Amino acid sequence: MIELRGVGVTYSNAWRALSNVQLKIDKGEFVFVVGSTGAGKSTLLKLLSREEVSTDGTITVNGQDLKHLPLRDLPAYRRKIGIVFQDFGLLPNKTVYENVAFALQVTGATRQTIRRQVPHVLDLVAMSHRPDAFPNQLSGGEQQRVAIARALANEPFLLLADEPTGNLDPETSLGIIQLLNHINVRGTTVIVATHDHAVVDFLQRRVIAFEQGGLVRDELAGSYRATETQTETQEERA
Ligand SMILES: Nc1ncnc2c1ncn2[C@@H]1O[C@H](COP(=O)(O)OP(=O)(O)OP(=O)(O)O)[C@@H](O)[C@H]1O
Ligand SMILES: [Mg+2]
Repeated sequence: MIELRGVGVTYSNAWRALSNVQLKIDKGEFVFVVGSTGAGKSTLLKLLSREEVSTDGTITVNGQDLKHLPLRDLPAYRRKIGIVFQDFGLLPNKTVYENVAFALQVTGATRQTIRRQVPHVLDLVAMSHRPDAFPNQLSGGEQQRVAIARALANEPFLLLADEPTGNLDPETSLGIIQLLNHINVRGTTVIVATHDHAVVDFLQRRVIAFEQGGLVRDELAGSYRATETQTETQEERA
């Protein structure tokens, strides 16, 4: 579904944020993107949401070449991608219900669709009991659940999360990552950029690691840190 071939990104200040990235992500996968600050994680997510365009190589998503995606097709492409950020990004003067409804309104959804879809996604994230609350009346974890509901409103095929647990305590973080896992199990492809060792080690899903813009590790059922000790043990056993 997602394929990057020889992808590089050079920002206008000549900073090389990604270089020669080869990567395939199948429909329905769950992928953690890890690496130290400045490694290129957010840049990768921005390429997939077509916020940035690669300077080298090709990126295809569902058979579409993102570099040559016509401008008029961009809104329709973005609508099918859900995005979640560290700071939740809810509109402070709108209720939980209105925040989710707004994401549908701006895409031209009918009132009937909104009336059906908002309770459905709030239910998915276990927030259907607080539709009238304002963001400042919710905990960080609850706000992130609403932000995830909003990202799911348009039934995206792909959910991108950039440091979704960055502002949350460890226990709440595990709850959010379990929710993202649940959404993945229901069929949505999920890609999570994170510094959070605990959530990566907890789920043991695919991990891709970047160092200075290069993809240096790609493991199924991986951990935050490379598992050299485990490989050694396996070699010793062999
Ligand atoms: N718009 C931009 N213009 C110029 N340089 C940029 C821009 N965005 C990112 N960079 C640079 O590209 C590199 C990769 O940035 P990116 O945001 O992808 O890193 P990251 O892995 O997400 O880091 P962090 O863990 O801190 O979020 C960094 O050196 C950053 O300074
Ligand atoms: Mg980042």
